[in-house]
Amino acid sequence: MTASPSPSSPTTETPKADAPKTAPSGRGPVLRLAGVRKSYNVGTSVEVEVLHGIDLTLERGEFVALIGPSGSGKSTLLNIIGLLDRPTAGKLWIEGHETSTLGDADITRLRGHSIGFVFQYHYLISAFTALENVMMPMLADRVFPDDRMRKTAHQLLDQVGLAPWENNLATNMSGGQQQRVAIARSLAMSPALILADEPTGNLDTKSADGVFEMMRKVNRDHGTTFLIVTHNMELARRCDRIVEVVDGKVVG
Ligand SMILES: Nc1ncnc2c1ncn2[C@@H]1O[C@H](COP(=O)(O)OP(=O)(O)OP(=O)(O)O)[C@@H](O)[C@H]1O
Ligand SMILES: [Mg+2]
Repeated sequence: MTASPSPSSPTTETPKADAPKTAPSGRGPVLRLAGVRKSYNVGTSVEVEVLHGIDLTLERGEFVALIGPSGSGKSTLLNIIGLLDRPTAGKLWIEGHETSTLGDADITRLRGHSIGFVFQYHYLISAFTALENVMMPMLADRVFPDDRMRKTAHQLLDQVGLAPWENNLATNMSGGQQQRVAIARSLAMSPALILADEPTGNLDTKSADGVFEMMRKVNRDHGTTFLIVTHNMELARRCDRIVEVVDGKVVG
């Protein structure tokens, strides 16, 4: 059981017993990167390094904006932090787990238990209801009985103000509502860290503000750490801290 802080959440009972047993978790930073580099097309004539040695630490409960010009490496960095891609060099710790030596099964388990994702395009399953979409990460993990998953999904949708719409098909919801369903889904496994890649990039100003405030509320209520890629400086300034990436390096 990690000390992932979500005191008021029904999801606090999420079993963490089968998380990788390679290092203690629950103490120290949620995330640490040391000298992370990423090259594409390694070993070919078009090899290119896009991340040039990133050092970054996120403490528990931080709400951080990741900004930088288009092509500077923000999504590449987020994919590495989210264990969707591996660095070419350097080290990455998630909740104290050093990841370079972990095999695919442990990486998958660590990702499932420690990290939630919100993307620019919500990637909801349009033919499923909001409730069914929020249940998906729990279904993939198969740790809860069906009624428990439904109850948790209902409570998470309630937290993002969507309980009355829980039986709506995702396809019939507005862009802002769909992103709030995606936030509820990202919370399903009580992750310590939520990674959001331009979560408001597709929304009008009012919906963007609502989605941002919803993430802020989750951060305050659960102590969940957020790393949010955004091109919106007005929203970035409302975060605790801004990390700027330029040409594959953290600046400032
Ligand atoms: N699979 C890939 N193969 C080769 N190059 C890639 C690959 N993915 C990304 N790149 C390159 O890596 C660099 C960083 O891309 P990345 O998508 O991380 O930028 P970004 O900061 O997220 O940009 P944006 O703000 O436009 O989303 C770019 O030059 C891009 O072309
Ligand atoms: Mg990007």
